[in-house]
Amino acid sequence: MARVYNFGAGPATMPVPVLERIQSELLDYHGQGLSILEMSHRTPAFTRVIQDAEACLRRLMGIPDTYAVLFLQGGATLQFAGIPMNLMRTGRAGYLRSGLFSTLAWQEAQKHGEALVVASSEGTGYDRVPDPASYEVPQDLDYLYICENNTIYGTKFWELPRAGAVPLVSDVSSCFLSEPVDVSRYGLIYAGVQKNAGPAGLSCVIVRRDLMANGPAKPYCPGYLDYRLQDQKDSMMNTPNTFAIYACGLVFQWIEDQGGLEAMRARNRAKAELMYAALDRSRLFCPHAQRASRSLMNATFRTGSKELDEEFIAGAEARGMIGVRAHRSTGGMRASMYNALPIEAVQALVAYMEEFEAAHPAEAEAAVERAGHEGPAPAPTGKCAGRSCATRSDAARG
Ligand SMILES: Cc1ncc(COP(=O)(O)O)c(C=O)c1O
Repeated sequence: MARVYNFGAGPATMPVPVLERIQSELLDYHGQGLSILEMSHRTPAFTRVIQDAEACLRRLMGIPDTYAVLFLQGGATLQFAGIPMNLMRTGRAGYLRSGLFSTLAWQEAQKHGEALVVASSEGTGYDRVPDPASYEVPQDLDYLYICENNTIYGTKFWELPRAGAVPLVSDVSSCFLSEPVDVSRYGLIYAGVQKNAGPAGLSCVIVRRDLMANGPAKPYCPGYLDYRLQDQKDSMMNTPNTFAIYACGLVFQWIEDQGGLEAMRARNRAKAELMYAALDRSRLFCPHAQRASRSLMNATFRTGSKELDEEFIAGAEARGMIGVRAHRSTGGMRASMYNALPIEAVQALVAYMEEFEAAHPAEAEAAVERAGHEGPAPAPTGKCAGRSCATRSDAARG
């Protein structure tokens, strides 16, 4: 069976060996005579599934015992509310606005207390993350919130904010398990798993135990979102998303078998280098993200012409490359290159970009004109490191 190359931002491509394993175990899970989909979460077999998943995640990320690992439903979005309800103890938290998801989280937090915008990159169309040198983090905050990889804009915090004693809370949904991480630098890390770890409908919340030791900050916090309670109940105060936990456990194991997060970083760097080199060479395609903020996971780009973007996306689909259309709020294209995406997919996309550009010389000239840049980038700064690309993407945003 031919599988397409899936560049979608999530739910996203999963490792084929994991899908095959799920298929092979589906009718009879480990001699139990039933599938994982039909099995009670209170059985010894499922208890083992969730315990193994947690243990493997702890090994992969080096999660200290001083942190709880929770598997919760509701995707990442439910945690936009869960975080302030658990952590906003004095009623004042800080948010760095670097795109749509941090903005949504900030808006949600305003229902629960003062949510201060410490810095924002909205002014430059979220083509970068706020520069740590440009703001100071007030030390009286309950936490500082960031979205570490901005799926929609294709940007990433390569340097964490200098938060001092303020606990850092990070949404890592779209860079979860993509490279090694020092968990001890965070108060809480969480991710919707449907990009790099499994099917939709589950989030992993990794939270420092001392931050939740006194229970939720807000007495009206629903029991389901009470981190301390969920920890006490091993994420099973009610029926958990058993299938997603099982699938994530298999993906965690697959990552470990590949060599862990160092190996993921090497894979992901190789793919991203290919992709960004193609964008830097191109006269037609222009990356949205400024060089210093470029994401390894999501590369965003456009031609500057809506019609041409549509033609490119349709041509990609015809060639078995799906999910290249960017988020509806930005338009243009996005190649999501999560862990399970093979490098052959990026090679195929880059070859198609070159073919497309060669077939559209006049449009490439027009794109260069429109952007006011000189075409292919002189190393090392690149055409899009400065004014020209911002000009073109501003124009494209209209
Ligand atoms: C960085 C980030 N945060 C939050 C979300 C929202 O996730 P969910 O749909 O699981 O609620 C997404 C979804 O794509 C995302 O990319």
